[in-house]
Amino acid sequence: MRLLARAYVGDLHPRWEHLAAAGRTADRLRARSTALVPPHVAQAVWVHDIGYVERLAATGFHPLDGARFLRRIGFPDEVTALVAWHTHAQHEARLRGLLAELADFPYPDQDALDLVTMIDLATSPQGLPVRDVDRLREIVGRHGDASVVSASVIEAHDDLLAASARAKRRLGLSLSWPTGSDGAAIAGQQGDDAPGLVPCIGYPTTAARR
Ligand SMILES: [Fe+2]
Repeated sequence: MRLLARAYVGDLHPRWEHLAAAGRTADRLRARSTALVPPHVAQAVWVHDIGYVERLAATGFHPLDGARFLRRIGFPDEVTALVAWHTHAQHEARLRGLLAELADFPYPDQDALDLVTMIDLATSPQGLPVRDVDRLREIVGRHGDASVVSASVIEAHDDLLAASARAKRRLGLSLSWPTGSDGAAIAGQQGDDAPGLVPCIGYPTTAARR
């Protein structure tokens, strides 16, 4: 999965640093608990921002563009739905008038979606560990008060933190993860260059599904 992510996002900086760090975090959490972090969650994390790639940006709304691309090349609903709805995408979709298009993807399992959201919010744009509350503050600061992105994050703020907290509780992480002591311990579990724990196998890469 990381190969697909790197092939499309590897030249996009710092988007790649964010995506690769989030993917590595998903792999480490999965290594810690394969039962609580299913493979499709780690796969979705590795590609959740692939819709930022310019040649895939048909609508300019990256969760939808990414999910449509992944569906087109054959990924199943359990992955594409997580990409489509990640990090409360429904708020920005509504503000952009794209909610009906987003709803073309089934709403994912809530526990899985919480995990993707938690990892996204734990990873800074440069790929560094960050607390969810600080990440949300950073997004609004970066995009400015008048942007659609900021408006959707402000609207979804409490729900995003609640999703992140639910996922942390399920995984037995502290609320300060990934900046607390458990963050450092998990970060040290696996080298960054270790082989991916979630290989991209079993899914077609060329056949269009729809
Ligand atoms: Fe992200």
